[in-house]
Amino acid sequence: MISDRGPFGDHARRAARTYGAAADHYTLAALNFWDRFGSATVSRLRVAPGATVLDLCCGAGASAIPAAHEVGAPGRVLGIDVATPLLDLARARATRHGDATRTGLPSGSFDAVLCVFGVFFAPDMTAFVQEMWRLVRPGGVLAVTTWGPGLFEPANGHFWQCVGEVEPSLFKAFNPWDKITTPAALADLLDRAGVSRPATVAAEGRHHLEHPDRFWDIVLGSGYRATVDALSPDQRDHVRQSLLAELRSREVTVLRTDVVFGTATRPGPE
Ligand SMILES: C[S@@+](CC[C@H](N)C(=O)[O-])C[C@H]1O[C@@H](n2cnc3c(N)ncnc32)[C@H](O)[C@@H]1O
Repeated sequence: MISDRGPFGDHARRAARTYGAAADHYTLAALNFWDRFGSATVSRLRVAPGATVLDLCCGAGASAIPAAHEVGAPGRVLGIDVATPLLDLARARATRHGDATRTGLPSGSFDAVLCVFGVFFAPDMTAFVQEMWRLVRPGGVLAVTTWGPGLFEPANGHFWQCVGEVEPSLFKAFNPWDKITTPAALADLLDRAGVSRPATVAAEGRHHLEHPDRFWDIVLGSGYRATVDALSPDQRDHVRQSLLAELRSREVTVLRTDVVFGTATRPGPE
């Protein structure tokens, strides 16, 4: 635990609360996209056996675990996250409870630094990426993965509509993943943070649900959890019932899950 790094800021505390609560649904089958995109991020990098990898905002280990397989016994993977219950789920070889935006780790100490679906939680995304880049050794790689536009549509729109009906103040009040959703926006962020020659690419994704009701698993096992936990029990029941009735009537079983992969290699000896 990085207790000597001072208390977490408001954003990190909110993420810890949201994803700590979401841990009880995080690894259900309906949310297997976490593992899918974690593996996809790692497979885009050339992580050599024996390499050292830092996974910032590692959650339950969706990218840390495939990275641990890549680096093998002589390598090392350190995952950092503020949500202790998710860290308990992570079977990564090492995880640490801490604020990923203030690691206090030595500069250039990792062959690869990853951040999958985490960068948008930082109040200052440029400063967060600067911190990631500082930790990459010369010749090492950085990978930042974000969601693309229209995440979980068409269910997402119905979710927010139902929330807005019962509690207008919560309508899209917590959806930081919509802050950065295009290759151009991610490239711009990486540029502003001083990352050299970043490559960004969009990849279309479709997530299949066994039944429209399974979307509620996603609601409880993802960032929507912050919104749902801010509702009263009656409001929550109302949102659940009207949302699922709408999704059933429209037979919604395919959700949009486009992502944007950003990668860069730090100049220097390989
Ligand atoms: C959408 S989840 C993604 C987790 C994991 N990378 C994955 O793909 O499954 C975002 C994660 O970021 C973590 N997080 C957000 N802000 C953080 C911060 N400042 N420091 C450490 N972890 C943070 C949350 O606790 C949560 O586990």
